Amino acid sequence: MLLVTDLDNTLVGDDQALAVLNQKLLDQRDRLYLVYATGRSYKSAQELQRQKQLLEPDYWITGVGSQIYQNNQLWADWAGHISQDWHPEPIFALVHGFPQLLPQPIAEQNPWKLSFNLHPAAPALTIKQLCSAIDQEAIAAQVVFSSGEQVDILPSRAGKGKAVAYLQNILQISWGETLVCGDSGNDISLFEQPALGVIVANAQAELKAWWQSHRQPRHYLAEHSYAGGILEGLDWFKLLG
Ligand code: GLC
Ligand code: MG
Repeated sequence: MLLVTDLDNTLVGDDQALAVLNQKLLDQRDRLYLVYATGRSYKSAQELQRQKQLLEPDYWITGVGSQIYQNNQLWADWAGHISQDWHPEPIFALVHGFPQLLPQPIAEQNPWKLSFNLHPAAPALTIKQLCSAIDQEAIAAQVVFSSGEQVDILPSRAGKGKAVAYLQNILQISWGETLVCGDSGNDISLFEQPALGVIVANAQAELKAWWQSHRQPRHYLAEHSYAGGILEGLDWFKLLG
């Protein structure tokens, strides 16, 4: 099977449940492709791996699906794919009109990911206005809003979900044997794929709201949080025996 999980507040958050899950995955490691799909940069995700002793995955989808890494190498094919129609310059110009968007640190930016935090006093409408402005200028980009505060602008072809579809196609694993797990807005694109999905109990409001209006029988809202929710989902879908 192909197991794709977000890191912060999905795989990571409950150390005890994580240890149980890690053992279960290790026992079946040869039957499994393990993929981490995170908003973090590759470097920051690796730091978290060291801190929390996360298993070594087969692939890393980092920067909200703007980059794919395998064996410490950035996948040039994916970079080439998402670079088509991607022109960040007009986006820089456009965000000047949105002083409520505060740029995140340089380490969080990459050539395919422009990241901001929404000023705490900014109206929620700001995100809609940003999307309309991008549409109006016919810019091929998408806006991903997470945890009620983080704003990522990515190429239309990027995102965690599209990166998983790209991998799934290369690995030739069926959607019925692909499980995606997440907790926040940047995971919505994972659940938009035809994969099985687990939403952990501690999920953010924006993901739960999305699930309310788009839920499918292949989506499971867990009763447990963090890695406990992933364990529950593996059981629910009868994956990994
Ligand atoms: C991670 C990234 C940040 C991004 C957020 C939401 O926290 O570090 O840049 O905005 O995920 O996608
Ligand atoms: Mg998360």
